[in-house]
Amino acid sequence: MALIGDSTDKAKQLLQAGKLVSIPTETVYGLAGNALNQKAVLSIFKAKNRPAFDPLIVHTHHINEIAHFAQLPSKWINELADAFWPGPLTLLLLKKKIIPDLVTSGLDTVAVRIPNHPLTLSLLKQLDFPLAAPSANPFGYVSPTNAQHVQDQLNDQVDYILDGGACGVGIESTIISLIEASPKILRLGGLSLENIEAVIGKVAVASHSSSSPAAPGMLKSHYAPKKSIVKIDEVNMKDFEDFSEIGAVVFQHTRKEIPKQNQIVLSPTGDVDAAAKEFFAAFRNLDERPEIKSIWVENAPNHGLGRAINDRIKRATAK
Ligand code: TXA
Ligand code: MG
Repeated sequence: MALIGDSTDKAKQLLQAGKLVSIPTETVYGLAGNALNQKAVLSIFKAKNRPAFDPLIVHTHHINEIAHFAQLPSKWINELADAFWPGPLTLLLLKKKIIPDLVTSGLDTVAVRIPNHPLTLSLLKQLDFPLAAPSANPFGYVSPTNAQHVQDQLNDQVDYILDGGACGVGIESTIISLIEASPKILRLGGLSLENIEAVIGKVAVASHSSSSPAAPGMLKSHYAPKKSIVKIDEVNMKDFEDFSEIGAVVFQHTRKEIPKQNQIVLSPTGDVDAAAKEFFAAFRNLDERPEIKSIWVENAPNHGLGRAINDRIKRATAK
C-alpha cells in the first residue's frame, strides 16, 4: 500500500528517480511524474489505465518556467496568469520540443497549470523539471479530493502520496485554449466563467461529444461512480414504491421520498463553492455503501462552480 506522508523531500527524491507521487492541489489530487521523462510519463498512463490519446496537464510553479516548454505569444496569457495563477486554471499553449509527445498524445499543444497548494508549490520549486499530472483516479472514475481517496484507489500504483489535506476547490481546473484567435473554454472547472469573463470579456465554451471530442479526453461519459447513476429530474417518483436502495446527491434540500440517511446534501446553505468541494466525495461515499444500489443526482444552479458541477453530472450520467 502506498505510503501517505507530508515530506516534500521524499516526494522530490522519488520524482527525481522517475517514480510517481500523488500531489495535493486545490482542485483534486494529481498523479505526478517527471514530465520530461518518457518512462515516468508512461507509468502514469499505466497506473491510471488511461488511453494514450488523452493528454496530460504539465504543472509548474512560475510563469517564467513555462517559456522552457511552451510558447507564450498570446496576449491573454499575462492577464489570465496575473489574475488567476497560482490557481484552478489550465491554459492550452503551443508546445516546445522538450515536452515528450507522450505527454500531449502527439498534439502540438500542451496544457499548463500553476496549482495553488503550498506543499506542491514548494515541491515544484525544488525540482528542475515540471510535473505531468492527471487526476489521481483510475480512468473514468470520480477524482480524489483527499489522500485517503488516492490510497483507496491507486494503492501500490503510486510510490508516495503527499498529504496536503482536503482539496479546497474540489473540482478539476478550468481549461482555456489560447491557441486560436480568441480564448475558448475547453473544460468548465474550478475557476468560474464569471470570474474569467470579468478579466478577459466574453469567452466561448466548447461543447463536446464522445464521437469527436473538441479536445481528446473530454469524453462524454466520465467522472462516473461504479453504480448506476441517474438524474433525479429524469426519474418519475411514482414509478417507485421502495426507496431503501436509492442513494441521492442533492444540492440543498433532501427529497421526502428517499430515506434521509441515504442522501448527501452538498450545501445546506445553497452555496455552489461549498457544493463543489463536497461533490466527488459524496459519490464515493454512496458508491461504497453496499445497501445502496443506484445513485440519483440533482443539478446545481447554473452559475459559478454550479456550471462545472452540472458538467460533471452530465458526463457521469451519459451512457
Ligand atoms: O485540476 C486539474 O486540472 C487536475 C489537477 C491534478 O491539476 N488535473 C486534471 O487532469 O484534471 P486530467 O488529466 O484528469 O484532465 C486533464 C484534461 C483531460 O481531459 C485532457 O484531455 C485535457 O485536460 N488536456 C490535456 N492536455 C491537452 C491538450 N494538449 N489538448 C487538449 N486537451 C488537453
Ligand atoms: Mg481526470
